[in-house]
Amino acid sequence: MKRKDILGLYELSAEEIDEILTLGLSMKKLLRQNIKKLPHLMGKSVTTLFYENSTRTRCSFELAAKYMGAHVVNISAASSSVQKGETLVDTGKTLDAMKNDVIVIRHPMGGAPKLLARTVKAHVVNAGDGMNEHPSQALLDMLTMRERWGSIAGKTVAILGDISHSRVAKSNLYGLTKLGASVRMYAPRTLIPAGIDAMGAKLCASREEAVEGADAVMGLRIQLERQHAGNFPSLGEYAKYYGVNEEIVKYAKPGALVMHPGPVNRGVELTAGLIDGETSVIEDQVLSGIAVRMAILFLLTKEEIA
Ligand code: CP
Repeated sequence: MKRKDILGLYELSAEEIDEILTLGLSMKKLLRQNIKKLPHLMGKSVTTLFYENSTRTRCSFELAAKYMGAHVVNISAASSSVQKGETLVDTGKTLDAMKNDVIVIRHPMGGAPKLLARTVKAHVVNAGDGMNEHPSQALLDMLTMRERWGSIAGKTVAILGDISHSRVAKSNLYGLTKLGASVRMYAPRTLIPAGIDAMGAKLCASREEAVEGADAVMGLRIQLERQHAGNFPSLGEYAKYYGVNEEIVKYAKPGALVMHPGPVNRGVELTAGLIDGETSVIEDQVLSGIAVRMAILFLLTKEEIA
């Protein structure tokens, strides 16, 4: 890979995505053997810079970097000089001055990672920017699918939930369609962003239509922190009319993967039975997350090591 930053799957080619997934699969095999000491990032420094809460993404980037021998610093905006008024650009310049090599950033504003990337010498990885993109999440979802299916081309993925506020949905749509999959979407009309069909999604009129014959069914979190307009009456009604349950999953292919990026609102987007059921790959998605982030960090920095 010959790019400085990973800001979104919109700009990555199918070949670049394939390169990340191929290396990610090798990394996942090592993790399954409990191998957590690799030399790929020896002498490198990685900073996670999070302006929003996170468990999976921040922790897995940190572990991915540490498993490959990097020095890791974690900055939370809530406890940093951001609270004293320091700008994102000045924060980035400060990290550059410390000879930091990679910044992994999560920010509530779409486009913030791009602004940072333009300003700093360090590689920038977008760990989620507002409602724009969450590329490493979609890559880990695709890694989970590819490990099971061998190839993503020709498969059908149904995505149900809060698509409007979801950076995960957009990154998956870009990535999956580039690799030849079909993406169906279903949500209350108030949670479907204008133009998502023009971006390649097939909008469906019902849960049944979305899930019929699908190879994977992905629930998306209802983003309570981003709901300002009463987009649906109540969580109970959302679960009843839009959630994924055992009856709806029967419309999918037998053994279809049940997926969710997490954190999940149990009983809202997915029933507890599906989350913990045999076809759920939600915990495996978490392991894929470390593997794919190892691949991302190595591929971005490897030219300098060679
Ligand atoms: N899926 C995801 O981004 O989870 P976190 O918010 O816990 O990082």
